Amino acid sequence: MEFEALKESCLTCQKCGLCETRKNVVFGEGIPTAEVMFIGEGPGQNEDEQGRPFVGRSGQLLDQYLQAIHLSREKNIFITNIVKCRPPENRDPLPAEWDACIPYLREQFRIIRPKIIVCLGRIAAQRLIRPDFSVMKEHGQWELKNGTWFTATLHPAALLRNPRSKPLAFEDYISIRTKIEEVCTRTYL
Ligand code: URA
Repeated sequence: MEFEALKESCLTCQKCGLCETRKNVVFGEGIPTAEVMFIGEGPGQNEDEQGRPFVGRSGQLLDQYLQAIHLSREKNIFITNIVKCRPPENRDPLPAEWDACIPYLREQFRIIRPKIIVCLGRIAAQRLIRPDFSVMKEHGQWELKNGTWFTATLHPAALLRNPRSKPLAFEDYISIRTKIEEVCTRTYL
């Protein structure tokens, strides 16, 4: 299967220097035919150790928001990151690392063909929606690009740092649920 072949090649990737410091590639996980994809920034320490996206504290918070609108990686979504390997000390990925890695995400989009893409935080939103995207000002807004609906919400790690923003994020998830009801056919079966 095409998706499995992509995963295999990603798991042995040596296209940038992050391959020297990573413990595991974090390809992403969930349903390969999902109508909804969630995209974070890049693996942190827990993700690097386990080879799975969003498994630390911010991942637990993300799972709570997802559960509230009946989504889960086991059932109906796919979760991945802009960059598939952890940058040392959690620094921002370098442009060369982004450029080396983004073809994997493009291939994931091409094979999965999601109807909705949710960017988690600024890095994903600026890379996938618009370079000057402001998550604080524009979270929860929707943009249709080439037949796919894009939105962004606050990164769960930012919500852990600033819990007062949690109600704002909750509204975004409600809006995601409404958009799923409008444009998806299988997600809430
Ligand atoms: N933060 C991210 O952006 N992605 C992960 O996978 C984990 C934490």
